[in-house]
Amino acid sequence: MNSVSLSKQIRDICLDEYKAYSIYRALSRIPIVNRKIRTILEKASEDEYRHYMFWKKLSNECRPRFTIITGFIWSIILILFGVTVVLKLLELKERDASSVYREVLERYPDFGKELEDIIIDEERHEKEFLENIDEVRIRYLGSIALGISDALVELTGVYAGGIGAFANTLSAGIAGLLAGISAAISMAIASYAQAKHEAGKDPRVAAMYTGSAYFIVVILLAIPYFTIKSIVIAFSISIAIAVMVIAYMSFYSYVIYHRKYLREFLESTALLLGVSIVLYIAGKALGYILGISID
Ligand SMILES: [Fe+2]
Ligand SMILES: [Fe+2]
Repeated sequence: MNSVSLSKQIRDICLDEYKAYSIYRALSRIPIVNRKIRTILEKASEDEYRHYMFWKKLSNECRPRFTIITGFIWSIILILFGVTVVLKLLELKERDASSVYREVLERYPDFGKELEDIIIDEERHEKEFLENIDEVRIRYLGSIALGISDALVELTGVYAGGIGAFANTLSAGIAGLLAGISAAISMAIASYAQAKHEAGKDPRVAAMYTGSAYFIVVILLAIPYFTIKSIVIAFSISIAIAVMVIAYMSFYSYVIYHRKYLREFLESTALLLGVSIVLYIAGKALGYILGISID
């Protein structure tokens, strides 16, 4: 690797260490976070600051600025995805950085001990976060994903099949809501039964997460039908909302299960659009056979 790209990589690592330091420190000061986790975060922020100072010695281009915009973006990630995702994202970046360490060592052999300490710190961070931060929404992520994916397929199916069969968006919306509520209850029961066989899960909590996740998707996909007059536009917006929900869930898969984001996203989206097309054709065919098509 040439020296230009190595020094750029060192600068990036340096900036990332500063970012991790700032975010851990900010998180450790949130009063609602429990005390034990706050202590771990505070200790991690001190480690990251030390790492930052180390990289700063090797890079004179490392001038970090933690702007309001950076703070805002990370706050949004924290609100949308929770603390586990924030910590995992930051540590993932640091783990990626370890591939550069060997080249750094070749160039600066005297810093071997310090680099080794950094690697030990990073391994400890991941382990400590993993052992101590047990976010309920992550523990029940499987139950949530179950509700969400089922709701997306079921509801877009209902709406796609109903294009041309419903007289107006309001009746389509009401049909979607009713179908959705009954399906949410049935999925919650299925989730309860499934969680009974899984260690470390409370079946009632699993049922609540699956049912609520399902219900939220039902509401989100129904909104366009209660606000827009054109069935085709309402359907298009509802599909767009469904794709956003897929993007949201794919991000969890990427961070928590290390799956490929784009692949996960495209697979689920293709499945959803496929179901919509099949149901649309089925709806048309049924309407034609039964003579209830209104267009
Ligand atoms: Fe670090
Ligand atoms: Fe770290």
